[in-house]
Amino acid sequence: MSRSAHPAGPRHADVLPEGHYTAPAADLNALDPKVWAQTVTRTDSGSVSVGGIDVATLAEEFGTPAYFVDETDFRARARAWRTAFGHDADVFYAGKAFLSRAVVRWLHEEGLNLDVCSGGELTTALSAGMPADRIAFHGNNKSVEEITKAVEVGVGRIVLDSFQEIVRVAHIAQGLGKRQRVQIRITVGVEAHTHEFIATAHEDQKFGIPLAGGQAAEAVRRALQLDGLELIGIHSHIGSQIFDMSGFEVAAHRVVGLLKDIRDEHGVELPEIDLGGGLGIAYTSDDDPSEPHEIAKALGEIVTRECEAAKLRTPRISVEPGRAIVGPTAFTLYEVGTVKPLEGLRTYVSVDGGMSDNIRTALYDAEYSVALVSRTSDAAPMLVRVVGKHCESGDIVVKDAFLPADLATGDLIAVPATGAYCRSMASNYNHALRPPVVAVRDGEARVIVRRETEEDLLRLDVG
Ligand code: LLP
Repeated sequence: MSRSAHPAGPRHADVLPEGHYTAPAADLNALDPKVWAQTVTRTDSGSVSVGGIDVATLAEEFGTPAYFVDETDFRARARAWRTAFGHDADVFYAGKAFLSRAVVRWLHEEGLNLDVCSGGELTTALSAGMPADRIAFHGNNKSVEEITKAVEVGVGRIVLDSFQEIVRVAHIAQGLGKRQRVQIRITVGVEAHTHEFIATAHEDQKFGIPLAGGQAAEAVRRALQLDGLELIGIHSHIGSQIFDMSGFEVAAHRVVGLLKDIRDEHGVELPEIDLGGGLGIAYTSDDDPSEPHEIAKALGEIVTRECEAAKLRTPRISVEPGRAIVGPTAFTLYEVGTVKPLEGLRTYVSVDGGMSDNIRTALYDAEYSVALVSRTSDAAPMLVRVVGKHCESGDIVVKDAFLPADLATGDLIAVPATGAYCRSMASNYNHALRPPVVAVRDGEARVIVRRETEEDLLRLDVG
């Protein structure tokens, strides 16, 4: 799913088994800043540090596996998105990528809004002080309880995902004596270039109301008639881990087309459009993501151009980046356990976590990088597959990568770019204990989500 699918370099072509791997880096000790968080660096002693703290010290204090998030980098990326979009636009961080109360506070302090998609995310956001009017509530099957809570606390917008929900939210809001600000999520019929499980703008899937066949226009008609709703805009999210801006361009074109039809039919110019999230990040050195200012410029230009052509006032734009903010800011630290060379194939390196802390490789064929971080090595590159300790052969963390041939049990290795959709999709498979998330900044490390314990597991098991 990332674009890193290159044959091995000629030096290894005759000895390597089939697979998708990049040629081994000339220097396996080098850390490509594209995939590593901002303050990650190799120290004079050879080990790697983040936020000024050595990984060995971190492993000693917090154990492994563990996620370490570079708070400086997170704040810088959040700020870069905020600054790039300026005062005429809103940035809603997509909490599904990774949410904790510390993260909510960072976002609040950096001036971002928040997109939540469940009662649990809403509760987390409110409990950490995010003002309700800066929260957008999403989901294709929100429960009556979730909608009621969202309306009661006064979320800034609910994104309506079906005809049933239009009526349901209107009814609940009216019952509470409120008029809820809403957007309607439409599917614009774009095939985003990404893994099929995370593409969301083609029509044959569960999200949104199709533009095709006049369905979105009908949804707008109904929403405008209901007293409990204040329709403020149209929403489109085309998918995730996307590098090609052309999908956004088509989406913006079609969303603005709908705004024009609404103006022509109802005499109403809706004031907002939301173009969703989905911007890709670098998981390996072969990925080249755009910068927030490039994305803001491109989206702003597309919308302005389309609105001028349609003689519409340019609406306020919002976006919902999740992965692009948190993804690159964290890495997962593992301790190497069993090292098993398979003659003529590759060496299997087992770590103390696996698909319970990173399901993305198994689920989407995602590609990751990996590095030895507790020391440097001058040994030759060895083709490895980094696997977890779970009871299935699909338990792969990094499918094909190179690590030094002297890798040994007890070494620390780290997988970068695991800030998004790793802890948030972690599981207790095989009764694994979900790892902690530790924030590191300016020489200080603190746990923001603690490690699960066996007592936590037993507490839920009430039989
Ligand atoms: N807005 C909406 C309505 C979304 O559904 C999503 C992601 C986002 C924003 C944020 O997208 P991002 O900027 O993070 O790409 N688990 C998958 C990704 C699923 C994305 C779901 N929706 C993965 O690990 O790749």
